[in-house]
Amino acid sequence: MRRSTTGRIAADSLLQGQGLDEVVPALGYAAPGKDAVPEAPAACRACGNGPFVAGLLDDLRTGVEESKRYRAQLQHMSSRVLSAHETERKHIARELHDDTAQALTSILVRLRLLERSTKDHEVLHNVEELRELTAGALESVRRMALDLRPAALDDLGLVPALQAYADRYSHTWPVSVTVEVEGLKRRLPADVELVLYRVVQEALTNVAKHAAASSARVLVSRRRNEVTVSIEDDGLGFDPDDLPRAYGSGLGIFGMRERLGLVGGEVQLQSTKRHGTRITARVPLPAKRAEAGRAL
Ligand SMILES: Nc1ncnc2c1ncn2[C@@H]1O[C@H](COP(=O)(O)OP(=O)(O)O)[C@@H](O)[C@H]1O
Ligand SMILES: [Mg+2]
Repeated sequence: MRRSTTGRIAADSLLQGQGLDEVVPALGYAAPGKDAVPEAPAACRACGNGPFVAGLLDDLRTGVEESKRYRAQLQHMSSRVLSAHETERKHIARELHDDTAQALTSILVRLRLLERSTKDHEVLHNVEELRELTAGALESVRRMALDLRPAALDDLGLVPALQAYADRYSHTWPVSVTVEVEGLKRRLPADVELVLYRVVQEALTNVAKHAAASSARVLVSRRRNEVTVSIEDDGLGFDPDDLPRAYGSGLGIFGMRERLGLVGGEVQLQSTKRHGTRITARVPLPAKRAEAGRAL
């Protein structure tokens, strides 16, 4: 796309801190009056500075087109990254479950056999220690696999996976979580289930990290053409208008929007300081995609 020389020189000079009253005369046009506010772009184009204004408008249009193209590329890349990330998580979770956890279970069984085969106190003491260490490692490997990608999500669906997650969560954090369901009789498309699971995971992680809440409620609600999931807590709340600054600290809510965008959904934040937070994710379900979905 052509960039006008006038526009480029003007933009560079303005970026270097010069005022319009210096830049415009330097380009050979009349200086704008201090309080000059054009009535309409047409008036600008017709005045003595017409070519200058046309150059700037031209550059503005080029800039907007470039940024639209850049945004589309970023969205495409973000969708590829999220999708690759999910595939990798699934792969690692399966390896951990099928290989590492199986190997640790075999070690536990053999240690039990070793324990039965001796009366030597020192050996028995060492075997006992080894069993505890191995059981601890097995527990962490299982937890890691579940956090990466719970098999229940693929095998049983969103609601059982969320219930199991809420159960583990309530045992880990001092927050009791309930999961309620309305109108959801069948499974949702696989990509929608995965996105909604990740949204709840991120929202509840935020409750644990930031809210100092005592309870949280997850409500999954299916209507004819839409599924919504809301996550409510009774914690400290925050000002959603402060989020652009809070982005510096994390990408959780940004990630929710990106993931939901991939399935045509959106997220809404409602929060007031000291009155808790509600996050609502909404995904449209046109009839043709309500039954089968592409897994991310
Ligand atoms: N449930 C919540 N209660 C209180 N504050 C929250 C809650 N969820 C999000 N926030 C606020 O929004 C900010 C942005 O959240 P997020 O994008 O997930 O980033 P991160 O968790 O890494 O800080 C948090 O830093 C926190 O200030
Ligand atoms: Mg977060």
